Amino acid sequence: MRPSALLRGALLAGTASAITLDLNSDDSIKSAARTAADGMLSFYHGNETGGIPGLLGDPYYWWEAGAMFGALIDYWYYTGDSTYNDITSQALLFQVGPDNNYMPPNQSKSLGNDDQAFWGLASMSAAEAKFPDPPEDSPQWLALAQAVFNSQALRWDDTSCGGGLKWQIFTFNNGYNYKNSISNGAFFQLGARLGAYTNNQTYFDWADKMWDWVYTVGLMSDTYQIFDGSDDTLNCSEFNHIQWSYNAGIFLYGAAIMWNNTQDDAATKGKWEQRTNALLNSTTRIFFQNEIMYEVACEPSGNCNVDQQSFKAYLSRWMAATTKVAPWTHDTIMPLIQKSAQAAATSCTGGSTGNMCGTKWTTGNWDGATGVGQQMNALEVFQSNLIDKVGGPVGNKTGGTSQGNPSAGTGGDINPQVPQSTITTGDRAGAGILTALVLIGLVGGAWWMIV
Ligand SMILES: *[C@@H]1O[C@H](CO)[C@@H](O)[C@H](O)[C@H]1NC(C)=O
Ligand SMILES: *[C@@H]1O[C@H](CO)[C@@H](O)[C@H](O)[C@H]1NC(C)=O
Ligand SMILES: *[C@@H]1O[C@H](CO)[C@@H](O)[C@H](O)[C@H]1NC(C)=O
Ligand SMILES: *[C@@H]1O[C@H](CO)[C@@H](O)[C@H](O)[C@H]1NC(C)=O
Ligand SMILES: *[C@@H]1O[C@H](CO)[C@@H](O)[C@H](O)[C@H]1NC(C)=O
Ligand SMILES: *[C@@H]1O[C@H](CO)[C@@H](O)[C@H](O)[C@H]1NC(C)=O
Ligand SMILES: *[C@@H]1O[C@H](CO)[C@@H](O)[C@H](O)[C@H]1NC(C)=O
Repeated sequence: MRPSALLRGALLAGTASAITLDLNSDDSIKSAARTAADGMLSFYHGNETGGIPGLLGDPYYWWEAGAMFGALIDYWYYTGDSTYNDITSQALLFQVGPDNNYMPPNQSKSLGNDDQAFWGLASMSAAEAKFPDPPEDSPQWLALAQAVFNSQALRWDDTSCGGGLKWQIFTFNNGYNYKNSISNGAFFQLGARLGAYTNNQTYFDWADKMWDWVYTVGLMSDTYQIFDGSDDTLNCSEFNHIQWSYNAGIFLYGAAIMWNNTQDDAATKGKWEQRTNALLNSTTRIFFQNEIMYEVACEPSGNCNVDQQSFKAYLSRWMAATTKVAPWTHDTIMPLIQKSAQAAATSCTGGSTGNMCGTKWTTGNWDGATGVGQQMNALEVFQSNLIDKVGGPVGNKTGGTSQGNPSAGTGGDINPQVPQSTITTGDRAGAGILTALVLIGLVGGAWWMIV
């Protein structure tokens, strides 16, 4: 996770090849999604001779490639277009690491629980969407998601803050003392999804426990704002109050799945309905401007880093998915997805192709930025408009074919491959910005948030 200036191209503003998006036409939505996906993959060379499958390379961290292949699974699920299936399977299987749990030693020096989780969430999506199963001698989608979950469950840390997961996995990485919402939220959502897929109550119990911890410790406020994280050397008594859209999305979808799977118990169902509604309320208030999605913490000031430039993709993805499992949210969510998709399309007039998308959707034009995140944001918000045309996530009893392994990933973090070279300034930069943000967050509270 490193800061970076926006990738401002000295690229010519495009002429007339903007993306046209007619939300009344499935073909138009599919074609817009295809254009956004092609633009996204223009940054990917992992399937070319000499490339490493699954890696985007500088300036993109490893996790974002996992997120990107998750978006391509969604693309196939929404459109039926299998153009990218081969490179997606290739990448998802190449990066599993020696323990088949998405911990490739090459990535140890920046491998947080959140990074690992984005690959696990992609393999979970593959199982739920019935993405073509890997060859029998390869690890299977469900087992990979279980391996990520199980390896993280073993990292539950009671030594500070009353529990939770640390951001980083290895002591030698900066951020080992930080407990953040995206790591804990990803575990929560993955637990809920594994519970739904397998009907194994243990996963739901973990998801319950995680929600309770996040709320009790104060990472989620009583008005359902979700803060970035907290320093465990202070026993989580102070917070970095910055709010990111992907944190809202990850908890929203998880809560909706919990509601979907508690139909038999009125009290528990009522609890998850209230939580889903409250999160939806805060999400729509904080991350939308005139019904258009925006990254409130960095877009107005134009300083979203490379990671942050992709966060709207995940909020789009999980808001749409929420409508499938908690149908009463549909009429609140879909108008926002529609307005946001229309707005996103107006930003796609950039780059040499004239249809690369920008960071901001609120301005009515291209803002001069291009990148994987911008393309993924547009891709997810476009294709989310097809949610009423596709089935919901399958499970083991409803047509799912992915083979699981309940004990995958329980071997522990035995081989962290301590980096041979000293950690470079570049590698530390992520933690550097983090520290600055923590200080601002602690000193200034939510100064930036004019909501
Ligand atoms: C890599 O994948 C892209 C996108 O599917 C495709 O256009 C390209 O031809 C592939 N390259 C190779 C060398 O297979
Ligand atoms: C790890 O790095 C080596 C050396 O660059 C490369 O050959 C290998 O393919 C990489 N593996 C993964 C999973 O990225
Ligand atoms: C740390 O925080 C947890 C949860 O908030 C609390 O239960 C515990 O007593 C605190 N420990 C110390 C040493 O203050
Ligand atoms: C349910 O999940 C737990 C936790 O991963 C595992 O230990 C247990 O074996 C699973 N039970 C079944 C019946 O698969
Ligand atoms: C949304 O949240 C605000 C502030 O917490 C509250 O005043 C309002 O009643 C909520 N709206 C709904 C529909 O729950
Ligand atoms: C739960 O989610 C499934 C999958 O999308 C859906 O078919 C079902 O109707 C949902 N259940 C309820 C009670 O809404
Ligand atoms: C569903 O889960 C059960 C129990 O874990 C297992 O026996 C069965 O093979 C699974 N079905 C599929 C299609 O994977």
